[in-house]
Amino acid sequence: MTSERYQFFDQNPKLPNVVDEIKQGLRATPKRISPKYFYDAHGSVLFDQITQLPEYYLTRTEISILDENKEKLSHIIDESCCLIEYGSGSSRKVRALINAINPRYYVPVDISREHLNQSARSIHDDFDKLHVYPTCADYTQGVELPDVIDGAPRCGFFPGSSIGNFEREDALRFLSSIGTDIGPGGYCIIGFDSRKSRAIVEPAYNDAQGVTASFNLNLLNHLNETIGTDFDQSKFEHRAFYDESRGRIEMHLVSKTAQTVSLDGETFDLTRNESIHTENSYKYSLTEVRELARRSGMSFVTHWEDSQAWFYVVLLRVPESTALSHN
Ligand code: AVJ
Repeated sequence: MTSERYQFFDQNPKLPNVVDEIKQGLRATPKRISPKYFYDAHGSVLFDQITQLPEYYLTRTEISILDENKEKLSHIIDESCCLIEYGSGSSRKVRALINAINPRYYVPVDISREHLNQSARSIHDDFDKLHVYPTCADYTQGVELPDVIDGAPRCGFFPGSSIGNFEREDALRFLSSIGTDIGPGGYCIIGFDSRKSRAIVEPAYNDAQGVTASFNLNLLNHLNETIGTDFDQSKFEHRAFYDESRGRIEMHLVSKTAQTVSLDGETFDLTRNESIHTENSYKYSLTEVRELARRSGMSFVTHWEDSQAWFYVVLLRVPESTALSHN
């Protein structure tokens, strides 16, 4: 039975034309495929494994920062609020936050309809006072929040350094759109992976067990299964490196030989050592975070970090005044 505490909102996000998008990326120089194609069922399992690798410090560091500071957070964020999570996935990290803040509403936003419904159901079942309003939408295209939450103060949540997948200017646009969603006086909690030594960052994307390599290569199988490309995984190898000046990890699939792949009647030649760029993962200094906040019209309230400053959990707020700056 659907109780009033649970309502599913479907904004019917437009799915991309995958064939056209992949063709475009393979025609380009350098070749590229979006990281969103990592996450089929197997890719999601591999990503879960990544978050538990000894080298992948991000997830566990963020969780411990959130855990250590949940008391403080609960004093700042209103109990009557609506917590909005962008790209909620399995809604695993948010549980500790819901426990700490005790919000009235939880609006998980995700593009993956079935997964969203299941995860949101289980949150609904586990927190008996919480109103759960899953919203199926593409959060990069702007979200219309259900009007059942009208009037409640809002708090956005974007954990995991997911913001790192955006180009820096796109991160700014996205943050501005969160600002519009949460409105004057609203808060948002965002996880940023910090700029740090190559010796720490690079192993996180080149783990000894090769899980990240499988995760990267799995993208090829996913495309073979969904759109009928004829990639041969064994002819590619995983490469990830830190570009320190840009402050980003780049992931690539490098062709081991000259080869041709085909898709929907079109062929694409790869030379030996030619790469397909599959992901950027941007890292941020605190100065860059402050600059991003300022330019998006939000004020930087505070941040928390681990003892090594490997990860930042940042609290931003939309000013109460309507006079937003436009620089
Ligand atoms: C999910 C984008 C935060 O950039 O660290 C992990 C994805 N890629 N290992 C990241 C990822 C390779 C991850 N994010």
